Amino acid sequence: MKKAIYPGSFDPVTYGHLDIIKRAAMIFDEITVSVLNNSGKSPLFSIEERVKILKEVTKDMPNVKVDSFNGLLVEHAKKSGADVVIRGLRAITDFEYELQLSQTNRKLCDQVDTVFLTTSLDYAYLSSSTVKEVASYGGDISKFVPPYVAEMVYRKYQKGE
Ligand code: PNS
Repeated sequence: MKKAIYPGSFDPVTYGHLDIIKRAAMIFDEITVSVLNNSGKSPLFSIEERVKILKEVTKDMPNVKVDSFNGLLVEHAKKSGADVVIRGLRAITDFEYELQLSQTNRKLCDQVDTVFLTTSLDYAYLSSSTVKEVASYGGDISKFVPPYVAEMVYRKYQKGE
C-alpha cells in the first residue's frame, strides 16, 4: 500500500489544491492531507476550521484523509506511515523554495521522498493569499474555491475576523 502525505497551510484550500489532491489520489493508494499548525503565521482560519473545511471538500474521495501536525513534516510523515510527500508546483517561482524544502526533508530523513505534481494551467495563478485578498475587498472568489469554502471565507470577513 503506497501512502502519501500532502502538507500545507490550506488557509483556505483552493481549487488548485483540490486538483493536486484528486490527481495524487489516483496515483497513490492513500493520501493524507496534513495541515500545518503554524503558530508563526496568523491564519484566517484556525487549525480546526481548516481541517473541517478540508474534510468537507474531500468527503467524496474515499482514499483521502485529513489531519493536522505540529513540528517537522518528516516526523509526521513517518508517524503516518507515508514515505512520499506530495507538493504542487505552479510556476518556476515555486521551484527554488520547493527544491530547498524537499532536499532539507531528505537530509532529515532519507526514507521520505518528495513527488511534485505540476498544477493544472487553469489554477497556475491561484494561491490562498489571492483568495483572501479578493474576498477581503468583497470580490467574487467562486472561480477559486468551492462554494462551501467561499461561504466560510466571506463569513470571516463579514465578522471582521
Ligand atoms: O502551504 P505551505 O505554507 O507552502 O506549506 C509549507 C509546509 C507546511 C509544507 C512547510 O512549511 C513544512 O513542512 N513545515 C513543517 C516544518 C518542516 O518540516 N520544515 C521543513 C524543514 S525546513
